[in-house]
Amino acid sequence: MKASFWNERWEKQQIGFHSEDVNPLLVKYWPHIKVKPNARVLVPLCGKSLDMCYFNEMGHSVLGCELSELAVTQFFSEYGKPDAAPKRTQIGLHQHVELEGVKIIQGDMLALTPQDCGHIDAFYDRAALIAWPETLRLAYVEKLMMLLPAGSQGLLITLDYPQEVMSGPPFSVQNDWIMANMASGFVIERLSCEDVLQDNPKFIRKQVPWLTESVYRLVRQ
Ligand SMILES: C[S@@+](CC[C@H](N)C(=O)[O-])C[C@H]1O[C@@H](n2cnc3c(N)ncnc32)[C@H](O)[C@@H]1O
Repeated sequence: MKASFWNERWEKQQIGFHSEDVNPLLVKYWPHIKVKPNARVLVPLCGKSLDMCYFNEMGHSVLGCELSELAVTQFFSEYGKPDAAPKRTQIGLHQHVELEGVKIIQGDMLALTPQDCGHIDAFYDRAALIAWPETLRLAYVEKLMMLLPAGSQGLLITLDYPQEVMSGPPFSVQNDWIMANMASGFVIERLSCEDVLQDNPKFIRKQVPWLTESVYRLVRQ
């Protein structure tokens, strides 16, 4: 997707992907992966997700990356401290916006370098891999592999549905695609795969016949 697509979604507040709750799958499965309390967690394509607040409360520091300046501003104004303004620093191509353990790098994830990010211990991908059309998905996976050190681990949450019935995003990503394209860089374990059609009225309206949501544990090799 072009940057203009996402910027327009944010300007019009057409952000059906955003949830006012911490993702229940994160709460259920994060403890399984036993990340140390002071870990630094990368959240690619973070939007203004409350999942970053969950990490913050767990004692982790957060490194988000988000294209939309509006999303970043809304995150810190809605979930930050009312009296505290985040610190903004322009570094290279990106603006770094930071407040109390949460830093969001505002800009294109595909342009991030390991120097921009610094050390990362863990990662969390919800609605990030599935936000890329297939033509860019591999570039995203390669970028993740470049940024994540060996031994870092994380959760990946994906959706799978018959792509011909509905156009993304979110795009359908099959288990076979993940195994074919990510197993060279990660040890992959599928923790769950659930039928979630009834919880997703948008998919029912578009007459998508089935929809599954999977959670993976990934360990960077
Ligand atoms: C489907 S949303 C998911 C947001 C968040 N992960 C959540 O669960 O609410 C995808 C987000 O990625 C952002 N995005 C899209 N392309 C990007 C890119 N190249 N670099 C950084 N962020 C990007 C969009 O602005 C949007 O906020």
